Amino acid sequence: MSVKRSSIHGQWSSRWVFILAATGSAVGLGNIWRFPYLVGENGGGAFVLVYLLCVVLVGIPIMMAEIMLGRRGRQSPINTMGTLAAEEGLGRHWQLLGWMGMIAGFIILSYYSVIAGWTLAYIFRTGAGLFVDVDATFSKQMFSELINDPEKLLAWHTVFMAMSMVIIARGVKSGLEKAVKFLMPALFVLLLIMVGYAMGTEKFMEGIDYLFNPDFARLADKNFFSDILLPALGQAFFSLSIGMGAIMIYGSYLSQKSSISFNCFTIAFADTLVAILAGIAIFPIVFTYGLEPAGGPGLIFITLPIAFGQMPFGTFFGTLFFILLLFAAWTSAISLLEPAVTWLVENKNMTRVKATTLAGIAVWLLGLATVLSFNQWAFSFSFAGTVKENGLFDMFDIFTSNIMLPIGGLLIAIFAAWRMSRSATVEELGLGDGFYYKTWRFAVRYIAPLGVIVVFLNAIGIFKLLGFVE
Ligand code: TRP
Repeated sequence: MSVKRSSIHGQWSSRWVFILAATGSAVGLGNIWRFPYLVGENGGGAFVLVYLLCVVLVGIPIMMAEIMLGRRGRQSPINTMGTLAAEEGLGRHWQLLGWMGMIAGFIILSYYSVIAGWTLAYIFRTGAGLFVDVDATFSKQMFSELINDPEKLLAWHTVFMAMSMVIIARGVKSGLEKAVKFLMPALFVLLLIMVGYAMGTEKFMEGIDYLFNPDFARLADKNFFSDILLPALGQAFFSLSIGMGAIMIYGSYLSQKSSISFNCFTIAFADTLVAILAGIAIFPIVFTYGLEPAGGPGLIFITLPIAFGQMPFGTFFGTLFFILLLFAAWTSAISLLEPAVTWLVENKNMTRVKATTLAGIAVWLLGLATVLSFNQWAFSFSFAGTVKENGLFDMFDIFTSNIMLPIGGLLIAIFAAWRMSRSATVEELGLGDGFYYKTWRFAVRYIAPLGVIVVFLNAIGIFKLLGFVE
């Protein structure tokens, strides 16, 4: 049975445009802002190692499944799940997966936009030469000055949401293509320059050791499952943009002829490389300037400006770096809202512009909670063996990445490998029915779901109750 649906929202003009767009979605603040600070909070090398395993064993198979579902359904994630479930004679409750994803996307974008706003602020701060020859104390102070000013945060958050809404309203394909084709490689080159700078710092080797030596002694007061594995798994989902329908909707614009597996490996490779390079650029600076690796969400905004203030042409490179980071955040933000916008267009008969305006304003409003999390509404709590200081922001982040995305991914895996007919997946993946297909199927049937379930059970402490772990 061959299914030929087409998307009312259009199609990518070539496979490379899809790869670029999906890489644009994957590479963003998650790689450069979130990854290093989680590494710092969760003990360095061991976290990195576990993260890489999560990407390979759980992330890539689920990503393939998610793109596959999108391409077969060719609608917003909610309607795609409805159509595919009906096709297999299953109930409409599978649409809930799409609903959950849409909500996760809303919440993630609401705080993502505030952090992207920090990037905007830093373009101007670096551009004005504010960081020339600064020390760690000054850099820290500049950062806390920004986050303690709700009006500034609100202004930048508003600018970023407006920028994202313009692109989404015009349709994801126009505009995005150019942004990813030139700006992503440029960001990559700048990261290499930063790595070059880090190599010249006094404590370069200490940074490398921290990142790549899975020294379990550093984890002495941590619980491996809940404090390392759970955040690493969450980060894999977050960084690859999987588990909420973003990559599903991008898959729905993908040509029937393109190879899903090749595309996935390319995207995951690029995404991981950028995260690792960001780590190599940042940790040597952390140690050289006597900063705390567990510095929390401000880590890159405190460390990188010090480096820009020291290196030759630092003002130029620094400004360019934050501009490119902004573009990376932009191309990610778009994918977070696209599922909701397509659903509004399909089901509520709205134009794209109207749908984007409505969804965008809702996200903007929710973002106010994050704006206040760093100042007026700040409170702290403990998670994954770390004290989190920014109340609602941290809760949104933890709840979406560590809970909603993995549950979304789990359901995607179950649907694709247990509920969808084998022949439909063979046909859609186009890998034939040999070794590659079987490996994928095994990973999506067993490894990915078990991985997620084991991590969850542990995190909830069930294994503790049963006496399996101390
Ligand atoms: N992956 C992006 C980043 O690393 C963020 C992102 C975009 C995302 N779309 C997503 C995260 C969907 C989770 C789900 O910055």
